[in-house]
Amino acid sequence: MSFSDNQISRSVIPGLQEYAFGGDYNPEQWPEHVWLEDMQLMREAGVNLVTIGVFSWAKLQPTENTWSFEWLDRVLDLCHQNGIKVDLATATASPPPWLGLNHPSTLAVDETGVRMAWGARQHYSPSSSVFKKFSLQLVEKMVERYGSHPAVVMWHVGNEYGAHTHRCFSEESADAFRAWLQAKYKDLDTLNERWGTAFWSQWYSSWDEVMPPRKTVYFPNPAQQLDFKRFSSDAMLELYKGEVEVIRRGIDPNIPITTNFMRFFPHADYWSWARHINVISDDWYPDLADPESHIEGAMGADLMRSLGQGKPWILMEQATSAINWREVNPVKPKNAYRRWSLQQTAHGADGILHFQWRASIRGAEKWHSGMVPHTGTDTKVWREVSALGQDLKKIQPVIGSRIESQIAILLDWSSWWALELDSRPSTRLSQRTALLDYYRPLSQAGYSIDFAHPEQDLSKYKLVIAPSLYLISDLGIERIRSAAAAGTSFVLGSFSGAVDAEDGVRVGGHLMGLREVFGCYSEEWHPLLPGESVGIKIGTARGEVSGWSEHIRVLPGASVEATFETGDLAGLPAIVSNQLPKAKSWYLGCTPDRTMLSEFLERTAIEAGVAPVVLNLPKGMEVTKRVNDAGSYLFLINHSNEDKLVEIGQSSRDLITEDSFEHAVPVSAGLVRVLRLN
Ligand code: GAL
Repeated sequence: MSFSDNQISRSVIPGLQEYAFGGDYNPEQWPEHVWLEDMQLMREAGVNLVTIGVFSWAKLQPTENTWSFEWLDRVLDLCHQNGIKVDLATATASPPPWLGLNHPSTLAVDETGVRMAWGARQHYSPSSSVFKKFSLQLVEKMVERYGSHPAVVMWHVGNEYGAHTHRCFSEESADAFRAWLQAKYKDLDTLNERWGTAFWSQWYSSWDEVMPPRKTVYFPNPAQQLDFKRFSSDAMLELYKGEVEVIRRGIDPNIPITTNFMRFFPHADYWSWARHINVISDDWYPDLADPESHIEGAMGADLMRSLGQGKPWILMEQATSAINWREVNPVKPKNAYRRWSLQQTAHGADGILHFQWRASIRGAEKWHSGMVPHTGTDTKVWREVSALGQDLKKIQPVIGSRIESQIAILLDWSSWWALELDSRPSTRLSQRTALLDYYRPLSQAGYSIDFAHPEQDLSKYKLVIAPSLYLISDLGIERIRSAAAAGTSFVLGSFSGAVDAEDGVRVGGHLMGLREVFGCYSEEWHPLLPGESVGIKIGTARGEVSGWSEHIRVLPGASVEATFETGDLAGLPAIVSNQLPKAKSWYLGCTPDRTMLSEFLERTAIEAGVAPVVLNLPKGMEVTKRVNDAGSYLFLINHSNEDKLVEIGQSSRDLITEDSFEHAVPVSAGLVRVLRLN
């Protein structure tokens, strides 16, 4: 990939030529005199962007026929007077109580037929026509009033679509599901064939018989479940698109519209969403009980950048310290707030925002940290927030820069959904774990990694890795075949290429359509029982694998790279490679342990001609490189408790501390350096 045809040296939010810094601002929770203090403190901390209105519907439309915008007028004007830009939310994320009371059809219904009550948030049915009518009416009013407000530089539709209600089983949703299926399959015969309804007497003779997968006595049809997941993602996306259409009619074309993602969120296919979003934005709340949450922090950030086709993105929400919704909610460890914030910028974020500006004193989130804590500004949190605001000003040159990756990891939500349905060879397979297994070693070795969809053109990458791609569509097969022919090397993890787009086994079995690429196929799956493991040998290295193994058959010309050593498969291949005219491929019938997988992946990267950003990266360090018209920037992140020295092979200058270095750069324990390369 070259930057020459893609040079951007300005913010993805044209109305804000700076690193975005700020958070969700909910002034409706506070008396107006506090707003003045808010403005002064925001300026003090370097806040330049706030998201307003996310949960304001009830305050903006207190009854079905009354509206109250004056308070919001005053807030937006105040922001403008103080030079604070606004990401204006459409306020449709949580309907007011009157909507549920007057129009029960707007409330979501679960798989057992129970209608959700108002009193929490996001309880609407995505397919409710009445919800759509009222939410679009609100958006019309917002755009009419604020479409040209000088403070508004971005519009924010809804909030975290699907976070609480990701599917609805109401009658109206069932009708919408049938319409979606008719558009997809055209006729019932095709649906019957693709869903395999000859099985268990599920054959449909009229569309009225087709239902969402409501509560059943045993496994519902897998293809029906899979299509319902796709439909549910699309139903939410339709809501988003409906609002965007209204907003677009009333705003300057240069103002971006976004909605906040939740990185590896299991209920929305973000690849299909991303096409409709001007600036990718995302919420990230690391699990402090997970000592490796920084790996997921990097992985999620790479996904966000990739969803935006490499463009910078915005971290829309994070906590300054503790959250309130896990079992135990510790404060962030020392230096973690700064380190993890800069880590997101290292992976392409051009903005760091938070939930929320001022910690609430009432309601369900009063124990969630804010930028302004309950105890005010003489606090560690406030000092850290203000310091980060200053750091971001110092790294302004990085804005708009991009990351070049020669490795892509494949992720397809359909495959994820199908993999984790019921009635599988093993319910212990997890998409997220598989992604982490493969991402971790490459990231720790300093490689730059994109995510990609199997149906996109993959030939720009030197190495494409699919840790778990259970389902591959016909187009996906085509893309892999053509990229492999053009010179892209592939690593395919276990139980991949097992089914077609509707979770059906292809006639002839495993890897049909891809056998020439991988030089093998699996004859039978050998899932391992909990606690069971088998020996494996790669070259001279020996290890154990658990969870999964496969009886692989090798085709002529392919080579055995690793063998199982114990169990029923002893002596049979565990990993097979296949030399192609312009590339090489590997198929793994198991997931080797951490050390083995790490050595294996580094070897494949070398064979595929890919180099890490920095060679011999010390343990506990993370590195990324961003490039724009003005220069190249290296982010060195020390996640360990020890000081490190990183040999980067050229001279550089720290944008924050202004220290200059020759070749070796010291990075203190827990800290980050943002270097401009000379
Ligand atoms: C997000 C949500 C915010 C707030 C936050 C708390 O999921 O968008 O409104 O609830 O979580 O961590």
